[in-house]
Order: sequence, then C-alpha cells, then structure tokens
Amino acid sequence: MIFDDLRAIQLRYGFLPKAELEALSQRSHTPLYQIHSVASFYPHFQLAPPPKADVRVCADMSCHLNGACELRAELEQRFAKSGGADVTIRDVSCLGRCDQAPAVSINDEIFTNVTAASAEAIARSAILGETLPEPHPEQGRVRCASDPYDDEGKYGVVRKLAASKDWDGVLAELKASELRGMGGAGFPTSMKWDLVRKQPGAEKFIVCNADESEPGTIKDRFIMTHLPHLVIEGMIVAGLVTGAKKGILYIRHEYHLQEEILGEELRRCYHAGLLGRNILGSDSIFDLEIFVSPGGYICGEESALLEALEGKRAEPRNKPPFPGQAGLWQKPTVINNVETFANVPQILARGVEWYKTQGQGGSRGLKFVGVSGHAAKPGIFEVPMGIPMREIIFQHAGGIRGGRQLKAFAPSGPSSGYLPASMADVRLDFKALADAGSMLGSGAIVVCDDTTCMLDMALNAVRFYRNESCGKCVPCRAGTQKMTDLLVRWTHGGLPEKQYREDLALIDELCQAMSLTSICGLGQIVPAPVQSVLKHFREEVDAHVLKGKCPSGICFTAGARAGEAQRAGIRP
Ligand SMILES: Cc1cc2nc3c(=O)[nH]c(=O)nc-3n(C[C@H](O)[C@H](O)[C@H](O)COP(=O)(O)O)c2cc1C
Ligand code: SF4
Ligand code: FES
Repeated sequence: MIFDDLRAIQLRYGFLPKAELEALSQRSHTPLYQIHSVASFYPHFQLAPPPKADVRVCADMSCHLNGACELRAELEQRFAKSGGADVTIRDVSCLGRCDQAPAVSINDEIFTNVTAASAEAIARSAILGETLPEPHPEQGRVRCASDPYDDEGKYGVVRKLAASKDWDGVLAELKASELRGMGGAGFPTSMKWDLVRKQPGAEKFIVCNADESEPGTIKDRFIMTHLPHLVIEGMIVAGLVTGAKKGILYIRHEYHLQEEILGEELRRCYHAGLLGRNILGSDSIFDLEIFVSPGGYICGEESALLEALEGKRAEPRNKPPFPGQAGLWQKPTVINNVETFANVPQILARGVEWYKTQGQGGSRGLKFVGVSGHAAKPGIFEVPMGIPMREIIFQHAGGIRGGRQLKAFAPSGPSSGYLPASMADVRLDFKALADAGSMLGSGAIVVCDDTTCMLDMALNAVRFYRNESCGKCVPCRAGTQKMTDLLVRWTHGGLPEKQYREDLALIDELCQAMSLTSICGLGQIVPAPVQSVLKHFREEVDAHVLKGKCPSGICFTAGARAGEAQRAGIRP
C-alpha cells in the first residue's frame, strides 16, 4: 500500500514533498522514518523537485558498447550553456532495451537507438512542456514455436486440470521434464512446487518474477509481449497444484506495454472464468494481480522482491528459510521466472517427449535469448537449448556489426563473466556453460567486437554491481567499491609491478570474501567479470597496468578521460 500512496503523491507533485510525507505518516500511523527509509531506497521515487528535463543515459554493458559514455558527454556539452536548472543529465542502470542501445530515459519515458541530436531534441521539448514523442513501439505479435495453442485452444491445460485435479500428475511430468528455473539459478521447478504443496496451512502464494533488470536481459519482455497467456496459465497451474489461492506478477516499472498486455489478458481470464472463485465451475480459487516494481536490480533477487511486495526496502533476507517455506508474509511461496512459468503449459500440453526433442545434444526444450552489444541484428531469439553460441551470434543475430571480428561474449550479462571468441562453440546449456566457467543465467548474450577493451568491460560490470548493491552487508557494500577503485586505477595505467602484484592479491582476497560471505547472489557474483577478464585477457590487463597501453585505444584517450567520471560514477 505504501507504494500506491507514494506514487499518488509523486504523480501529483512530481516528487515527494516533506509535508506530504509527514501527512502520510499521520494518516497511515506509520513512523515518518519508515516512510522515508522506503522512499529513499527506490530509484523511482524522487525526494526533491525534478528538473523540467530529467535525462538519464543507460550506462550498462550493451549501451556502453554502443556509445553511451560519449552520448552522455555530448549531451552535457550541448546543454552546458543553456541553464542547469532546467535539465539534469545522469546515468541510469539498464532500462531493459539492450537490443535497441543506446537507451535513454527522459522524464520517465524510454527512448531507444538515440543519438545526441535526437535526445537533445526530446529533452528540449520536455523543457518547453511539450508532449514528448511516442517512444519506440514494440513489434506486433509474433507467433512462437513454444506456443502450443491456436487462438481457440488457449488455457487447454488449465481446462483439463480443473476437471481432473491430477496435481500429482503435473508434478510427475515437470519432474520427468527436468524443467529448471530460467531466472538465473536453474533450480528444479518440480522440487520448488512440491515443497510448497507439502507445506501445512491454507495461505500460500505464487509469485512471478518479471523484474528483469540485469544488463542484457530482455527475453522476459519478449515473452510477456508475445506469450502472456502462457505466463498466466503457468501461474494458475502452480496455484492449483500447490493450493495457493493468490498470485502476484511482479513487473519492472519500465515495462508499461507489457503491464498493459498482461492486464488485458488477466481481464479476459476473469471474464472466461479461468481466474477467481470456482475456476471453470470447479471448487478451485485463484486470484492473480500485477504489482509494479518501484525499481532497482536488487528487487529481482527473490527474497528482496518479497520484501518489496511487503512494502519494505528491497533488502535480501538471510536464507534459510527459503521462500518455499517462509516467503511472502512468511507464508509458503513459489517464485518463478516468467520463462519458467511459460514453459509449464508447453510441457503439459505437448508432453515430456516433445519437450525432450526440442533441444540439441541432449539438452531439453526451447529457450529465449537476448543478443545485444555489437551484434549486427540484436534482438530476442527462440532457439533450441544446447545450440552452440556461435550459431546464435552468427546466424540468428547476424554476426558482428560492420563485418568486424568477435572478440568476446558474455553468455548472460555481467553475472556470467566474459568468454573469448575461441569459446564460441560452447553450447547454450546449464552444464556446458558451467564447465566453461560461465553460466546459462538468464540468456542475456552480450557480444563484444575486436575494438572492445576488456578491462573497461570488467570495470563496467563491477560498477553496475557497485551501483545496485543494496548496502545491507559489508562484503558487498565495501567490496564492490574497492573493486571499482582498483579497476579504475588499472585503467589509468603505469603502476609499479610490485603494486600490481599487491592489487592482484587483494582482488583475489576480495573475490573470495565476497563470494563466500555476501548475503545474496549479487555480492556473490561480483567476482565473475573481473576473474574472467584476468583469466582470458590477462595480457590486455598487463598492458594497461604495466605499460600504460590500452591495446584497444580506449582507456587512455582524451575522450575516455572525459568519460571517466561516468565510467566510475555513482548513480545520483
Ligand atoms: C541480484 C539478483 C537479481 C535477480 N533478478 C532476477 C530477475 O530479474 N528475474 C528472475 O526471474 N530472477 C532473478 N534473480 C533470481 C531470483 O532470485 C530467483 O532465483 C528466480 O526468480 C527463481 O525463479 P526460477 O527458479 O524460475 O529461475 C535474481 C537474483 C539476484 C541475486
Ligand atoms: S550481497 Fe549486496 S545486494 Fe546482496 S544483501 Fe549484501 S549488500 Fe545487498
Ligand atoms: S538498456 Fe542499456 S544495457 Fe540494457
């Protein structure tokens, strides 16, 4: 409820005036410090009046590879003379439009593939109070191989299940399919559902994690646009099987279009008796609503997401207990990713044998992947699990822009670290990628061409984690800053060898401390980009630090120096 109140105030005043927060505190009998602690945590809420044009340039991986640093510097230059009070230009974390980089948010509207000239024109319209142009529209509905239905047959699995009530059969099929979570951790879905089903008590919840905020991750946006019925059906099935009567779809606030599409689909489901009381005439109950996130990458971590749903700061909980035992309001809760839920009706409608045959080389099922960075045709592709990365990058995503060479790729955003081009034959598979020292993660493939500086990319990834750390635990809060400082120093070059060796030892120690002692996955994964660059691109790092030479000509140029504050900057 607190978010609704805060949003209403912000909508009215454009920010959260102190007097209004005090009035809310009195009205809701909530201490002011609690309201303030929530309002100050989330990037969506503003405690000071905004400028007429609030320009935020995405600074993360895919946009960084597409000139975000230079874009911001040029915008600053263009506005330097014309009144600082009317416009602010700052960084923002990934806006979920990595395939259309660089992306910019202007007064909370997102614009993609922008140039300095186009962003300037929009910002000037905002200053004049004019209506801003329509942001880049999403492409029309696409027919996907994953969809088991034609228009009439939708929700066939729920229809069958409401009559048969064969909950054990569903769990057995999911177990046989070996479906694993598609949100990053890859936990077996049937085990999660079974755990919640076995918990005592009538109050249980189903939560869909549509926060999707890791740089490069855009597949859930596509699934919610083109297959909303599969996501909703997967959630209803989870409710029926586990006995949960309430579902919540937690979506990032930058996904307005997907929120609308899902809202429309929910209305159709209620109208058709697929949701609510007495589902399809049975005695089953399941209600489903959408919750719009107040923002921040950490909200995607499952226990932080639950805290946000409870109206608190999105700080991850210590685990155990896991959400399956003590989740939302301490009740048993299934949390799954959008794609995981969308897989459930596919498997149940077409059978496990069909599912098995969709993958390659022993992998199962189809997978949505986002490809961004220096790809010639960035986008979201539906591919067989087990397909070689090379095929995704060169056939589906059209290879490397401008006919250049592939230098490196991140199989799944900053969390997966970077692999060299020589490893492009690795298959899109949980085990194959783990064996390659990376991970399948959320299928966020970010491609780097041969002009890319990999030390710069390691810094970009660590900087993202530093900005998004919630600050609850020391290893992550202090470690991400320390790691950023060390990498910035390395990009300056010219360090004595002794100092470099000490830095390397310190990085090693930091990596161990962070991965072993951080409370949540964010702090635990921070070492990945740095360690992978040191492993696969060590000569390049050595050249920076010891010889003062950036082999890609990025780190020591005047432009890079000018952009340095941005590269290391903290989100205001
Ligand atoms: C910092 C952080 C951010 C995360 N963001 C997401 C996210 O946006 N979407 C998601 O499904 N999982 C995300 N996860 C993973 C979730 O914690 C959780 O494992 C997942 O939602 C479970 O669903 P699955 O089993 O279907 O993958 C994130 C984890 C961490 C540590
Ligand atoms: S690891 Fe980082 S993001 Fe996670 S709880 Fe600790 S400070 Fe917060
Ligand atoms: S929109 Fe910029 S990295 Fe995702």
